[in-house]
Amino acid sequence: APRVFSGAQPSADSLHLGNYVGAVRNWVDMQAENECIYFIPDLHAITVPQDPEHLAERTRKTAAQYIAAGIDPTTTPFFVQSHVPEHSQLAWLLTCITGDGEARRMTQFKDKAAKQGSENTSAGLYAYPMLMAADILLYQTDQVPVGEDQRQHLELTRNLAQRFNARFGETFVVPEAKILGDTAKIYDLQNPSAKMSKSAASESGIIWLLDDPKKLAKKIKSAVTDDGTEIRFDRENKPGVSNLLTIYSSLTGRSVEDIVAEYEGKMYGHLKVGLADVAVDVLGPIRERTLEIMDDPAELDRLLAIGAAKAREIAAPTVASAYEHMGFLAPR
Ligand code: TYM
Repeated sequence: APRVFSGAQPSADSLHLGNYVGAVRNWVDMQAENECIYFIPDLHAITVPQDPEHLAERTRKTAAQYIAAGIDPTTTPFFVQSHVPEHSQLAWLLTCITGDGEARRMTQFKDKAAKQGSENTSAGLYAYPMLMAADILLYQTDQVPVGEDQRQHLELTRNLAQRFNARFGETFVVPEAKILGDTAKIYDLQNPSAKMSKSAASESGIIWLLDDPKKLAKKIKSAVTDDGTEIRFDRENKPGVSNLLTIYSSLTGRSVEDIVAEYEGKMYGHLKVGLADVAVDVLGPIRERTLEIMDDPAELDRLLAIGAAKAREIAAPTVASAYEHMGFLAPR
């Protein structure tokens, strides 16, 4: 079966709705027909400052949300990036075959560096895409299910795999991004021209998977909508309503047309009430299950240890092969 690999950063206490419908839900669906491995990229999280008081707990919470969302720990290994040192090892090799200009063209780096200023930007943020390429290539991955914002990083990953193979001999599978249509980019509820993001200025536009039902409903009901009154899908002129329709569709599995037909002649408020109910129905159980799982951190740590051991079985030979192809003297 094709190998699938992906992960979400533990940089907040909760994943958000964009992470869920743009990525995690697809990871769950892909388990049926693929050999999936998922991980928690904690080394990526420290490319911006993380409070040592929270990092471990957020890492566990992210793992708990994977399980609660439907990742099956009995069949799908999942692990913590820092538990598998091969990620850092391969990242260095790939960094050394990446061009400086190539790395600087990464829009996520450019945007963040511009926002923070060069003095406040870590070199880790610059090196981030090469670490991500290492994550993927270590597992000889065929498909990487991610949201739209990771497309450029996947392109770089493919380029680095092809470059390494051409220069040093066949070493890596060249992976493909799996990016699903509209749900691959969910927008901020208060600012529907910006993607929903953990680092948004205000909390009110972000739906956290762990928001309690009241807060969840309130955020949806106070979402920014657009001029006019008609409920229809029109990204350009009705970004707020279109975002709500995309979320509605993704949480119910119903088509946008079907939902538009249901709300024909009704007001924005009706759509929001309907979506709030749907969101509470779908996300409520995930939240509760996450909290239950968090009650037994020892069991969670046990699953993560099993995952890391399985991951190393694949990652260690890949790194050994990369070293060998690059011509390093083997240690005796
Ligand atoms: P991260 O942690 O920012 O996000 C996790 C996943 O959620 C997707 N996503 C979204 N999808 C739709 N709408 C949104 N508003 C939205 N926001 C985020 C992301 O595209 C991602 O798929 N660099 C990665 C983590 C990573 C990784 C990897 C992923 C590190 N190494 C190797 C895959 C393979 C990241 O920061 O995702």
